[in-house]
Amino acid sequence: ELKDNTVIVVLGASGDLAKKKTFPALFGLYAQNYLPRDVKIIGYARTKMDLPEFHKRATSYIKNPDDSPEIAAKIQEFKDILTYLAGSYEDGGAFVELNKCLEDIEAGYQSKECNRIFYLALPPSVFIPVAKNLKEHCYVTKGGVNRIVVEKPFGKDLESARELLGSLKRYWTEDETFRIDHYLGKEMVKNILVLRFANVAMNATWDKNSISNVQITFKEPFGTEGRGGYFDEFGMIRDVLQNHLLQVLSIIAMERPVSFAAEDIRDEKVKVLRAIPPIERDDTLLGQYVAANGKPGYLDDDTVPNNSVCPTFAATTLWIHNPRWEGVPFILKAGKALNEAKVEVRIQFKDVTQGIFKDIARNELVIRIQPSEAIYLKLNAKTPGLYTRAMPTEMDLTYKRRFTDTKIPEAYEALILDALKGDHSNFVRHDELDVAWKIFTPILHWIDGKDGPRPKPVNYPYGSRGPKELTAFVTKYGFKRNTEGYVWPVSSL
Ligand code: BG6
Repeated sequence: ELKDNTVIVVLGASGDLAKKKTFPALFGLYAQNYLPRDVKIIGYARTKMDLPEFHKRATSYIKNPDDSPEIAAKIQEFKDILTYLAGSYEDGGAFVELNKCLEDIEAGYQSKECNRIFYLALPPSVFIPVAKNLKEHCYVTKGGVNRIVVEKPFGKDLESARELLGSLKRYWTEDETFRIDHYLGKEMVKNILVLRFANVAMNATWDKNSISNVQITFKEPFGTEGRGGYFDEFGMIRDVLQNHLLQVLSIIAMERPVSFAAEDIRDEKVKVLRAIPPIERDDTLLGQYVAANGKPGYLDDDTVPNNSVCPTFAATTLWIHNPRWEGVPFILKAGKALNEAKVEVRIQFKDVTQGIFKDIARNELVIRIQPSEAIYLKLNAKTPGLYTRAMPTEMDLTYKRRFTDTKIPEAYEALILDALKGDHSNFVRHDELDVAWKIFTPILHWIDGKDGPRPKPVNYPYGSRGPKELTAFVTKYGFKRNTEGYVWPVSSL
């Protein structure tokens, strides 16, 4: 439940993440009355600036497309709960100041209980000193809770992740720590558990007997423009597959949890991840985009080192060794600078028994995470008319059509609210992260050139569907593109 007398401190308040995601989400919660009563927010960063300047930055990404006077007024009100303090991340003295600032605010609260939420929108280099300083100088012990919210990257491989998490654990307990993977806050990702376990019809076909292959796909229509320096150090696998897509996989594949309690859910996620061996090189396809259609290639980005072999596209196939999934390939693929923006799960069922039908399309269940949330099942039906012929069609749950009055929350709104309530269900547990790194570390080391020459990614043109080798890659795992000419009729919504 929400606690009164809460102060939220956003560290890294002048950075991109805070500006684009954290503050807009805090505003969204504020405007819908989801923040605790009397809440105050402190922005903290190195940059010196006065309050009006901070207010301007912190609200610069809040959307008010129709210039609504109500929203404009809310933004004004929101500024009143928003203060700013500049200070260093390494220097303990600066955190003594931050603590004073917190105490000044808390002096105005009715009750003695104070709750502090520290949101670290920070680069990994200052992560540990900040966690330490917060614990040493800003931790309340006189009743109330202290929580720390952290963001990826959590290390670069198993070893560095263990080191980072280990250092963090010296100061903050697991119960106090909320590790964000913002995909877990997306509405459709949160829906997967309900879809699976609240429907007998779904659940009954959810295994190797009915399913041929599963694809989890992430596509972005833009390159690394401007972010190349960061990206080159991490690559597509660390940026998206090892966290976001693997999280989706674990929810698609996990067994039914005993309850919806956070630890019950996370226990099942860890269990299924532990049944996945490290990815094999042969189960990997790496790509890098090159200039096309007037758009620059990855290597044309000034922030990217010449001759970089960093993958901007990656497809990897994972295998789950348990009775439900033995032999079913789970293909994770993600790419930048592709032909469209789309994140979806595509579950392709097996062929129907041959005999009365020949070359009939397979059933596919598509869970579209974004844009425009939808779930549709491709199914064969008789072509209407005076003859019997089957044609691919669909059962379709498109949110915009079905839930016309509902506003779908932003992922960060959902997650910040959960952190305020102390609900860990949609955050990544320590052991979950550890096993995620175990699955990916060997191929990452191979890609990084730790055990020999670095593999060279294949090229694909900016704005294309990805490397031309992709079709053969997915076909190898049994995927059949057999609804030629079929177009999902609401794909434009
Ligand atoms: C981030 C990655 O974690 O997720 C980005 O670092 C990526 O590279 C982003 O663009 C995608 O998030 P969303 O919510 O836009 O799908």
